[in-house]
Amino acid sequence: MLAIRGGKVVGPAGSFDADVFVEGERIAAVGVDLPITVEREIDAAGCYVLPGCIDPHTHMDMPFGDTHTCDDFTSGSIAAAFGGTTCHVDFCMQQPGDTPKQSLERWFQKLEDGPPLIDVGFHLAVTDLSDPSSLAELRDLPGQGVTSFKLFMAYRGSFMVEDDVMFQTMEVAAEHGALTMVHAENGHVIDVLVKRALAEGKTGTEYHGATRPPVTESEATARAIAIAGLAGAPLYVVHVSCHEALKAVEDGLAAGARVRAETCTHYFVTEEADLARPDFEGGKYIFTPPPRDPAEHEALWEGVGRGSLCVVSSDHAPFRWADQKSLGRDDFSAIPNGAPGIEERLLAVHQLGVVEGRITLERMVELLAAEPARLFGLYPRKGVIAPGSDADLVVFDPEAERVLGVDNLHSKVDYTLFEGFGVKGLPRDVLVRGTEVISDGRLVGKPGHGRFVERGPTSLAA
Ligand code: URP
Ligand code: ZN
Ligand code: ZN
Repeated sequence: MLAIRGGKVVGPAGSFDADVFVEGERIAAVGVDLPITVEREIDAAGCYVLPGCIDPHTHMDMPFGDTHTCDDFTSGSIAAAFGGTTCHVDFCMQQPGDTPKQSLERWFQKLEDGPPLIDVGFHLAVTDLSDPSSLAELRDLPGQGVTSFKLFMAYRGSFMVEDDVMFQTMEVAAEHGALTMVHAENGHVIDVLVKRALAEGKTGTEYHGATRPPVTESEATARAIAIAGLAGAPLYVVHVSCHEALKAVEDGLAAGARVRAETCTHYFVTEEADLARPDFEGGKYIFTPPPRDPAEHEALWEGVGRGSLCVVSSDHAPFRWADQKSLGRDDFSAIPNGAPGIEERLLAVHQLGVVEGRITLERMVELLAAEPARLFGLYPRKGVIAPGSDADLVVFDPEAERVLGVDNLHSKVDYTLFEGFGVKGLPRDVLVRGTEVISDGRLVGKPGHGRFVERGPTSLAA
């Protein structure tokens, strides 16, 4: 038995000083002055004890055009653990010619090739249902613990699906307690705007934002909500970047739609002007939806405050600036889309949210752990500090300080959107199912400790 003594245990409903007892992989008890004999202790005095964070939006070793995100499940999960994340749900991307089952097999192989340090679940990103076996295979996935499907309404010519595939996938999700996730941007309109810009010689990174204006996001968001309603399916809108798309979500909620939405850490700190940084620095900010007007930072925090944004994910999709982003030096549309952030997420949300007074500590835990666990079928196994739950725990030192920079982060990527960003509050010790993987800020766990987690139905299931 292990005891984590004297910390402030944080849960969505409140925080209290208590000891947390861990037996094997699970939490055995939480309380004060409990007469339990222990073999080992971690002193958490002066620290918070948080449930391990769950990142429901990551892309490890994801193919994009002619390249792949540069973190595999080993390196990405090490970065995650340093940032207090103990479980992530990654997108298994259906490749051309593959059925859903074959796609899953490919992603299980990636877990073998790059064994993870932390636990991992998979969403299936459905891109093609034309194979006669595809729909039947999709119906089987929830029984195998894959209880969420992703649909891309953008990236024409690669991941994008039409409304028929969207509707059929949503119907399967509705029948099987699964959650449909949507990348909501109007890929058809964006395709025209991008081609027109390039034809006019507008090839620089600064045109990425102008060719994906907010209305392309809000229109697609409203359309996805409408189609999900028709299919009777709950919907989760990923990476909301602006108040227009947030309004579409809130209009849906007001009309009774079963819709939830996330934003991502980087939308609180980046802005469209970053795309125009000289010497191709703007390439670091090529992700979709694009960075917006700086006024959106507070608009998104207001959405968090109202509850219409109920998760903050990282959308960790790291491409090295030197040799991957640079594939599009002469054509912004050839730059692989995505940015790193799995390690920065808790640090930045704690700094911007809790330290700067926008949210409470409890709300932070809700956004980063409890609500992702509920929506993605992991609660109460994960996302909460309670007897019987997995001992996924973070001892977080609220007084520790660091200036973030690529040199003190652990992804294989060569930049961070948070370079020079000062944070007060850092994970000190991180446990995944009772095993310390980070101790006193140092890696002590072994890749391969992480497991595939079979997830249950979404909390939004009818
Ligand atoms: O630009 C982004 N967000 N890249 C990752 C893939 C996606 O769209 O989520
Ligand atoms: Zn996306
Ligand atoms: Zn993504």
